[in-house]
Amino acid sequence: MKNKVYIETYGCQMNLADSEIVGSILSKEGYSLEKDINHADYILINTCAIRDNAEQRIRKRLRELRALQRNRQWVKIGILGCMAERIKNQLMEEEDNVSFIVGPDAYRRLPEMLSHLHDGEKMAETLLSDSETYADIEPVRYDTNGITAYISIMRGCQNYCAYCVVPYTRGRERSRDPQTIVAEANTLFEKGYREVTLLGQNVNSYRWQCNGTTVGFPQLMAMVAEINPLLRVRFATSHPKDLSDELLQTMAEHKNICHCIHLPVQSGSERMLKLMNRRYTPEWYLNRIEAIRHYLPDCSITTDVIAGFCGETEEDHKATLEMFRKVRYDYAYMFKFSMRPDTYAAKHLQDDIPDEVKTRRLEEIIALQGEIALENNTKEIGKVYEVLVEGVSHRSDKQLFGRNSQNKVIVFDRQDFQPGQYVNIKVTRCTAATLIGEAVTQ
Ligand code: 5AD
Ligand code: SF4
Repeated sequence: MKNKVYIETYGCQMNLADSEIVGSILSKEGYSLEKDINHADYILINTCAIRDNAEQRIRKRLRELRALQRNRQWVKIGILGCMAERIKNQLMEEEDNVSFIVGPDAYRRLPEMLSHLHDGEKMAETLLSDSETYADIEPVRYDTNGITAYISIMRGCQNYCAYCVVPYTRGRERSRDPQTIVAEANTLFEKGYREVTLLGQNVNSYRWQCNGTTVGFPQLMAMVAEINPLLRVRFATSHPKDLSDELLQTMAEHKNICHCIHLPVQSGSERMLKLMNRRYTPEWYLNRIEAIRHYLPDCSITTDVIAGFCGETEEDHKATLEMFRKVRYDYAYMFKFSMRPDTYAAKHLQDDIPDEVKTRRLEEIIALQGEIALENNTKEIGKVYEVLVEGVSHRSDKQLFGRNSQNKVIVFDRQDFQPGQYVNIKVTRCTAATLIGEAVTQ
């Protein structure tokens, strides 16, 4: 029987969480999850559409897979995720080695689709839903370290930032029943997991109403944190316009809610933020940074930024660099603007910044952020952190690595520590990306 499935995931953490849901849906129906692509009967590619280069990468991957299909002619390839949703017809026409296409809200249909796929046939299912949250599905953690896991708490986005394709690929915002989230976190803890990251495109909009009571994001965080003090809780991503003091207070009140906030700024220019439809000003953003520093003085702050959005002047770009100098991020995901079809920008704005200017501005942001990250890390030398051990360091099997509450990776000598254990580590050295330390008894 041809039932071995290999899942390959691109893009964000949401996609990783979705692949685990797909794995669960298929394994319940008798499909087995295969670790080696060369043994697979079905190859599922969970795709990202956020920038053009993400889509080009998938196109290239599909060409590479032709060689594998020449030796195993029965192998069928399916495209899942945002790219499936965005360009289903185009994919069907242009990629002749793709047999099925399934959008982010249609994964329950996968087993039936696979069972009906006959040679040469193609199928697509891309309807978006206003209610699908996969709440009842316990994800299969098929590629896991056994210590950290993602839990998807809401789906979709309706902020309609001018550059972003997500509202069109993932549909309307909907929250998942908190009881199912707590149950999932509980099960993970019982299986030995020690950290969960609650995921949503904009977690601060999480809202569940039932029998006259409302559970918002701060309450949900508290419910998960109260499962056990040994279970760390993280979350991603927050929209600055909705980052409330109540959430920061909840974080301060629970020792096991990690002190790390990802707060995408996108630009430091008031004019650009307005054009991007971000619905906050640089002043508002800096006020939120102050609030974080007030409630959680040792909190790390990370961000996303876009260089070269429509009409961005040198002055706008300088405002972004200035924002970076003021906030002093611990980490930043930095991107060149990529025009996406269907978005507000595609319909109403001009992609008028030449590529070499976008590249130069991006490089300036990257260089500045590199300096800041190194300076921030240098200040960590001498401090002692509680580190959750995740596994053996990629560089040397004599060393382990883990992360502190601030989500910084710390490498240290192995001794007889085990993954899942909390160890106090004193930072002794650093690079811009990693802290190096030694265990202390404290
Ligand atoms: N071009 C470049 N970067 C983008 N992002 C979203 N859309 C685009 C785009 N069209 C970035 C934003 C977002 C992150 C997930 O990807 O910074 O926060
Ligand atoms: Fe994730 Fe957005 Fe990429 Fe979709 S388009 S995979 S939601 S980052």
